[in-house]
Amino acid sequence: MFITFEGGEGTGKTTLIQLVKNALIKNHEVITTREPGGSMITEAIRDIILNPIYQGVTPITEALLLAASRAQHLDEVILPALKAHQIVLCDRFIDSSLAYQAFARNLGFDFVLAINDYATKHMPDLTFYIDLDPKVGMTRIQNRDKYDRLDRETDQFHENVRKGYLEVVRRYKNRIIMIDGNQSIDAIVSEIVQKINERL
Ligand code: TMP
Repeated sequence: MFITFEGGEGTGKTTLIQLVKNALIKNHEVITTREPGGSMITEAIRDIILNPIYQGVTPITEALLLAASRAQHLDEVILPALKAHQIVLCDRFIDSSLAYQAFARNLGFDFVLAINDYATKHMPDLTFYIDLDPKVGMTRIQNRDKYDRLDRETDQFHENVRKGYLEVVRRYKNRIIMIDGNQSIDAIVSEIVQKINERL
């Protein structure tokens, strides 16, 4: 089963993926991974996308690098794990490109879906979108020492990312479950584990 986790900045995805893994690992083989990243090659692409020293990355280049990283990540990490009947928990996937690049960067859904043609052939079985007011999320991460190029975008950009996600949830309502990010982490984890177990 291929499960992805989505949300704006500061929604606590990294911690909660680890906790969901701990709950599932008792009965299943589970791997966790992330985008952009997840392997040596894709972590190198991640650095070009997110390192603030690369200020000149244009929106189209950003979208293409994310799509390239995703194709490599599928072939190198996700598809082999699924073939070995492991549960894959992935921090972000194509819905991030739809919310951030298609919507917030205004590149449009058609363009982003076209350059992600390979990924659209391997869509997640289930996606959890953690919904949170970006003002709350940005306050949570303001003390992070690794503040990346996208974290540094304007408040308006982060508001648009949330609007983009709400549109993505509307388009893919059979696949995406929206979770209220204001709840405690324990409440979020138990809701997610229950939904996964219902489908396993
Ligand atoms: P994070 O993993 O720490 O959340 O950082 C990843 C950043 O990259 C985050 O700001 C969202 C952004 N991103 C996109 O803009 N589009 C994408 O397709 C993905 C996977 C991430």
